[in-house]
Amino acid sequence: MQTLQDAAGLRATIRGWRAQGHTIGFVPTLGNLHAGHHSLVKLARARTDRVVASVFVNPTQFGPGEDFERYPRTLAQDQVGLAEAECDLLFAPDVATIYPFGADRSVSLHVPELTETLEGAHRPGHFDGVATVVCKLFNLVQPDIAIFGQKDFQQLKVIERLVRDLSLPVKVMSAPTLRAEDGLALSSRNQYLSPNDRATAPLIYETLQQMRDLIAKGHARKVVEQAAASKLERAGFVPDYAAIRRAEDLAEPADGEHEGLVALIAARLGTTRLIDNLLFD
Ligand code: PAF
Repeated sequence: MQTLQDAAGLRATIRGWRAQGHTIGFVPTLGNLHAGHHSLVKLARARTDRVVASVFVNPTQFGPGEDFERYPRTLAQDQVGLAEAECDLLFAPDVATIYPFGADRSVSLHVPELTETLEGAHRPGHFDGVATVVCKLFNLVQPDIAIFGQKDFQQLKVIERLVRDLSLPVKVMSAPTLRAEDGLALSSRNQYLSPNDRATAPLIYETLQQMRDLIAKGHARKVVEQAAASKLERAGFVPDYAAIRRAEDLAEPADGEHEGLVALIAARLGTTRLIDNLLFD
């Protein structure tokens, strides 16, 4: 597997592949990769001739006081995992390559509506940073398909909307969340958890499942959301939200609406903020 940091080298390699008629799959990441990321690369591998992954800790999607500085940077380890997952090229640019005028002076994209709720309400500007960097990376890599994990469900919706609205020539695909045996969604941020908090963290998934089951039994959405938040609080979490939404557009479902829903939770445990979600079948 090749690793490139510069845009010119990346473009030349991609041009060479295109000249041979190869299709390109792309997995953008913040790095510190785990089995969840590797599963996205394997999915791309199965669908396209060439697979590119990017590792870039994007400053514009972290708010003040968030974990930009301490976000684990583990490029050597990421290279080993990506090579094992049969990635062809790792693009690992620096900030100046992605933001030639500086991260705080960049053109910035805003996806309306979808970004004003849930994560967007608790992390102002986060999705502008995500939309901007994803668009820049798509312009550089020019993939046929790009694959995102469903753990960041709202991010996936924002990117789908971005691609549709800007007519970007890329097919967005998603892959299911990978979980530890106890149900905790794999996340680079799990390593921030103390041993005690790690033992408590699977309660998020348990709560999501309970939300799904209570809705299936006909309980009112607002009551289910409140019960979920209280359960998390009793266990020591500080929930930002425990919400049931329409999976399609994250709008609040009408009373009695049972089809196509998703439960989403964001909660702090100690100094770690965890998110997870569960699609209702
Ligand atoms: O989900 C991530 O890893 C990031 O938000 C992404 C999509 C790579 C943009 O920086």
